[in-house]
Amino acid sequence: QPAAAGELPLAGRRVVVSAGGTREPLDPVRFLGNRSSGKQGFALAEVAAARGAEVVLVAANSSLPAPAGVKVVPVETALELESAVTDAARDADVVVMAAAVADFRPATYVDTKIKKSHDPGDPDAAPTIELVRNPDILAGLVRDRGDEANPVIVGFAAETGDASGSVLDHGRDKLVRKGSDLLVVNEVGVDRTFGADDNTVHILRQGSSHVVDVGPATKHDVAAAVWDAVQEIL
Ligand code: CTP
Ligand code: CA
Repeated sequence: QPAAAGELPLAGRRVVVSAGGTREPLDPVRFLGNRSSGKQGFALAEVAAARGAEVVLVAANSSLPAPAGVKVVPVETALELESAVTDAARDADVVVMAAAVADFRPATYVDTKIKKSHDPGDPDAAPTIELVRNPDILAGLVRDRGDEANPVIVGFAAETGDASGSVLDHGRDKLVRKGSDLLVVNEVGVDRTFGADDNTVHILRQGSSHVVDVGPATKHDVAAAVWDAVQEIL
């Protein structure tokens, strides 16, 4: 039920936010990773807590300090993130997937360091790294929810425009494909978004042609706009 007058807007709500970027280990000293700083996800957790929510923040490889009043669950890989998020999602009202999840991981992990001359038959050879698909965690949450309206599910998408469509075209396609309630689309490029303090996003809602444009704004203000959109659904 919605918060009573005078109460914080997310009082009594349990929310799960994933943040940061997963690392997929290759050997004890190497991993495949991405440039996500975790700043947007941490800002989402901070704003939700300030609005009265009980917040679990599943944080992949972020060195940012835990926001006040937020329970942080640290994870490294996509598989670890999947299990932490699906666990926490069971009694949640809202799940926000702000983490940059690796689509692929190395097919095998070797528990000893891969040497430069890894092939005794050809000391100058370079290895080929075989990859396998990681699960789509967001799609799994939508699938597990079935016909229920709970939890509200929010995805993020970093997109670039290309020959086949604009940033918004790709965002709309992805929203339909993923089946989440909201998709927060941001435009990425070489000097955009990753690690930056400002963000320009478009918030798309399932089944609606209405778009909320936010920014350039701080990640804190983007987070506030995302929770405003979630509160309209709750
Ligand atoms: N996501 C996820 N599990 C994955 C990959 C992505 O849950 N294995 C989530 C992200 O946290 C984000 C949303 O899905 O909320 C969109 O991620 P994105 O990488 O843009 O989508 P993909 O379906 O992986 O499409 P793309 O081919 O553009 O990478
Ligand atoms: Ca992806």
